[in-house]
Formats: sequence, C-alpha cells, structure tokens
Amino acid sequence: MNLLNSVTTKLWTVLSVSSAAFCICNTQLFASPPWGSGVPGSPEMLELEAKWRPMAESTGKQRGHKRFNDQKYGMFIHWGLYATLGGVYEGMKMEDPGIGPKVAEWIMRRREIPRAEYAKLANRFNPTKFDADEWVAVAKAAGMKYMVITSKHHDGFALFESKVSDFNSVDATPFGRDIIRELEQACEREGISFGVYYSHALDWRDGGDSGIKEYGPEKPLKKVFANYFDPAPVKFDDYIENKSLPQVRELVNNYELTEIWLDTPIYIPARHSFAFYETIFNANPEILVNQRIGNHFGDFGIPGDNVIPDAINKNAWECVATTNNSWGYKSYDDDWKPPVEILYWLIANVSKGGNLLLNVGPDGTGTIPEQAVVNLKTAGEWLKINGAAIYGSRPWRIDNEGPTNLHMGGTEHRKKAKLSFDFKSDDFWFTQKENKVYVMALARPENNTILVKSLKGEAIKAIQVLGQSDLVNWEQTDAGLQITLPRLKNDGIGYALEVQL
Ligand code: GLC
Repeated sequence: MNLLNSVTTKLWTVLSVSSAAFCICNTQLFASPPWGSGVPGSPEMLELEAKWRPMAESTGKQRGHKRFNDQKYGMFIHWGLYATLGGVYEGMKMEDPGIGPKVAEWIMRRREIPRAEYAKLANRFNPTKFDADEWVAVAKAAGMKYMVITSKHHDGFALFESKVSDFNSVDATPFGRDIIRELEQACEREGISFGVYYSHALDWRDGGDSGIKEYGPEKPLKKVFANYFDPAPVKFDDYIENKSLPQVRELVNNYELTEIWLDTPIYIPARHSFAFYETIFNANPEILVNQRIGNHFGDFGIPGDNVIPDAINKNAWECVATTNNSWGYKSYDDDWKPPVEILYWLIANVSKGGNLLLNVGPDGTGTIPEQAVVNLKTAGEWLKINGAAIYGSRPWRIDNEGPTNLHMGGTEHRKKAKLSFDFKSDDFWFTQKENKVYVMALARPENNTILVKSLKGEAIKAIQVLGQSDLVNWEQTDAGLQITLPRLKNDGIGYALEVQL
C-alpha cells in the first residue's frame, strides 16, 4: 500500500460512516476516501443533491456515458514543469527522505521547493520536440480511443492560455504555446475524444490545500498533501473562487472536451464540488466528470490510483494506471509494464465493466519515453485483431476464470509485491456484446485444446478465433466447454474467441 493509499485508508476510517450513507444514493461511485467534507443527509447536502440529480441523469450525460462505456481505453498524460526535472532536484531523488508520494509530479511538495524557486522552471520550459500529432498517433497505434492530459497539476502551472493566471505555458515560458489547444485539435483530426485533468482542490502555488486547514478535522493529515513549507497567503474559498473555478470555466468554454478529471478533493466543501459540476454541465452536459470532484457529485468512479477492483461493477468507472511506477516523467524509472501486462490491465478492467486510462509521462523535451511507446504499440497490435472483444463490450456474468489471481492495490504495490505476469493457457477473461460472449487469453495452449469451464452447458451456435475465419470445433463435456483451436495465424500474445450463443 503506498503512502497516499495508507493515508486515505486512515481518513476513510474517520469518514466511513458518512461516505457509506452517500453511496446508497450514488451507487456508481467507489466507496474510498476522502471525497469531501459535505455532511450526508444535512439540509445543505439534500438541497444540492436535488439540484444535481436532474443534471446527472440528463440525456446529455447519458450520451456521454454511452460514449465513455464504449471507448474502454484511453491515454492519460502527466506533463508539466516537473517533466524538466525528471524526479531529481539539486541532486536529490524522489526516494530520498521527504514527505508525500514518490511519483515525479510531486517533486515540488516532496523536495519542498519554494514557490518562487519552482516558478523559475517555467523560464526554461521549452519542449521543442513536442508534436501533438505524434502523441495522438501513439495513442491511436496503441488502440486508445480517448486522451486526458493534465491541464494543471498540483504545482499550479497550466498548459493552456489563461486570463485567470499567467503561470501557464503561453505566458510564462519561452515555448509560448497552448499545449491543450494543440492536442485538442490533433485529437479532433484523428477522431480521438479529448479530455483534461485539472487539480481543482490542490494547488501548492495559489492556496489550494484541498480544504485541509479550514474544513478538515482538528488533526488533518496536512503534511502529505498541502504546501506547508511556503504556503500562499490565500484562503481556500478564495482560491476556488479566483483561480480554480474560473480556470475550469475557461477550459470547458474554450475547448471541446468529453471528460474532465478533477483531483484531490479531500475536505472540499459540498457547495464547491457542486459549483464545479454545474459549471461543467452548463457548458456541455456531455462532458463526464470523475468522482474526485468530491462529495459524490461525479459521473464516473475511480477505484484508486493503479487499483483494479476485485468485482464486476456495471456503473461507469475508470481505472487509472501508470506505464512504469510514476505519472510524471521520472528519468530513472525503467520499470516498464511489458505489453502482456498492459493487456492484462486492459482486459482485467474491461471484463469487470470499467475503462482503462493508461498514463505516459513525456520528458522535458516533449518526448514520450521510447520503451513506453514500444510496449503500448505492441499491445495495440493485439487490439487490432481482438478489438471486438473490448470496444463496445459489457461485462458478462463472470469476469474471469483460471489459476492466476492478481490483486492490484496501488501505485507502489506492483513493484513491491514483485508480481509476475506469467499467465497460463487456462486463464480466461470474458466480455459480452449482443448474443456473443468473448473469451480472451494471454497465453496459448501447447496442444491446441482448451477447456472453458464457465461456458459449460451453454447452447453454442458458432465459435471463431478473432482475426481468423477457420472453423473451430467444440464439445460440451462434464468439465466444461472443450474447444479445439485452429493453428493461430499471428505470432502475437494470446488470442480471443467470439462465441455466439
Ligand atoms: C493522485 C496524485 C497525482 C496523480 C493522480 C493520478 O491524486 O496526487 O499526482 O495525478 O493521483 O490519479
């Protein structure tokens, strides 16, 4: 369990009674902490919920949900001034003693870099290799259908032109370009949906402390999240009113977005979460907002950072995961998820009913690390053949069968637990669409025969290996459905079957 997760678990113990009550009315969201300081059942909360519900259930949101549920796979991008440091500041790495997570975009907090010092990074932010079309081409080759990029992270620096704060890529850097605009347009050209991350509650530069000081309990877990080393003399409410909400308004009014990914609500009051929801809805009801808006006003759930839920959940949700062990570029993290692991993250989430938003952290020149690109493209080759089992699918009655049982419990979990992704030929994952069940495998059998226990007794009309037209033979046995596979034509990872019922 990483630091953030262990902290949130402690907070959850404090807030569990109240959050559990929330989940009765908003079952689409995951019951994990800390999602704001609104008091469930209070007159304020009931009033806000009554105004929120018609928006959340509107036809616009339903269209947004349909698109979201069909797309399944997107590219998350963490990019900002921290990319120029690559996780090292004045010779100190993220792992050297410090406070907060060791992911590279947290370098300002962890190394306690004063605001004025950190701002100097903007003077040398000149990523001349940045090419929006190239990033979008990588997402496309990976088989991704949407993109979400950090338009402003916790360091307060925006990647878009803003009248609200000149601490942005157009006004404060020699680069002088609107990165969000360039990506929005490149995505549009290629038919990729475009969304942004925006750290609405936490801003180490301009007074966003997630409401910890003014709305948190007497002993808040202040050291992990907020800027206590060089705080701005700004009240949380003023930060929301003067920077955060106006910048979100700029984003939804000036850019064509399908998703907005807000972050780190912790003790944000309910009225603020609601104001964000209403602002976004009024600009475009189809934009979906994630659960981290706070106070359970989100349109879709987030199980946690690098967390795959253990059970099927038919509501809208999105697993967010890293391709190595950091979101922002970390120059010395070469622990890349190999293609088979990437496919596992995709298949395991989709078979449980969720999406996968898989992150890359481009470096300070604007280059996505090469190994991440290679691995994503290799996984994309699998999707070219087997995409029918993923896109537009819905969970079946069970998500998987087989001997490999992996639990994914947070950003540092995978590395610490030294997990192996050595899948067996009797590991299967399932999805469905109309009258078809899809069976996905990440390993091939030695003798062309497989037994799918979960399909025992089903009346089967036809079976096809995706990407091949050969006839497939099968037989129902006492143990399950026995299938004889034809020779698999491509030499990639695993395969998928389309089973017509
Ligand atoms: C956490 C981290 C942040 C990262 C995000 C991704 O909130 O603070 O650095 O952007 O998770 O899910």
